[in-house]
Amino acid sequence: MSRKVFGNFGAIALTALVLALPSQAQDQWMWPDKPENLQVLPKDWPGSRLRAPMRGFTSALGVGCSHCHVGEEGKPLSTYDFASDENPNKNRAREMLRMLESINGHLEKIEPSGDKPVNMWCHTCHSGRPRPMTLREELGETYRAKGLDAALTHYAQLRENYYGKGAYNFEGESALNSFGYSVLKNNDAEGAIRVFKLNAERFPESGNVWDSLAEAYMKAGHMKMAEKYYQKSIELDPRNQNAKDMLKKIEEEEGE
Ligand code: HEC
Ligand code: HEC
Repeated sequence: MSRKVFGNFGAIALTALVLALPSQAQDQWMWPDKPENLQVLPKDWPGSRLRAPMRGFTSALGVGCSHCHVGEEGKPLSTYDFASDENPNKNRAREMLRMLESINGHLEKIEPSGDKPVNMWCHTCHSGRPRPMTLREELGETYRAKGLDAALTHYAQLRENYYGKGAYNFEGESALNSFGYSVLKNNDAEGAIRVFKLNAERFPESGNVWDSLAEAYMKAGHMKMAEKYYQKSIELDPRNQNAKDMLKKIEEEEGE
């Protein structure tokens, strides 16, 4: 294992937000002199060298030690079994270390276009989340498991917790728009209307979000609403040919 890559974890702890250990736990617990079960990090590291990577992990994923170790959040660290591999996230994290080593190995092979090579870290992907997903993927996963109400609640919670932190793209219309289309494809036009309405509230100046809303109304058979929002879309974006075509289609059908 390259010393260089892991040596740099010291820098993570200094530059990243470091989660302080609970103070009562700090009193009663010390880093072990000799770790018993290092499989990826250098085996001869004294426990004190683990401080930087372990704190780096917690802040990169926005979790406590118990996310990867056997122990209970809030309980003193002396009650934890850090050498145990029983918590499946520990082996996941080991594989992530190997992956990062490999990624950084590839990065070292290219001539950097900036003044020095860019390294990848845990937080480059994780940005304070245990599972780094796009906003679209988050909504899709919750929708498949628990339905639309849960997905929309999840959206509100993520926005509350992560807005402005760079972990999810709340600043663009595309996540809700493409999620809305997957709801529409799932033959739930009424559900898609709810998603597109929320997107229209957030991005009222975008012709595209009103076009999507109009399409869902059309699929749901609410032609008057479809007409209204296609017109709104054209007002905002006069080049929207799709909306013009759809309006024509609605007029023709009404004429029949
Ligand atoms: C993202 C997962 C993750 C988090 C969070 C995490 N650890 Fe670890 N920890 C690991 C992994 C993986 C290893 C084993 C590394 C190896 O095999 O080289 C480890 C090893 C250790 C060891 C060495 C145990 C031994 O005897 O072999 C200690 C001590 C430890 N961690 C303490 C902590 C503390 C304290 C925290 C909270 C501040 C923490 N860890 C947070 C993943 C994590
Ligand atoms: C290239 C991007 C990337 C990097 C770098 C990365 N991860 Fe991950 N990590 C992921 C993805 C994606 C998942 C979700 C995998 C899944 O559940 O399908 C994940 C999942 C995990 C999990 C499982 C969490 C859970 O609750 O399911 C742990 C633990 C973890 N990563 C730790 C780390 C650590 C520690 C580092 C740095 C050594 C790291 N990751 C670096 C992309 C990355």
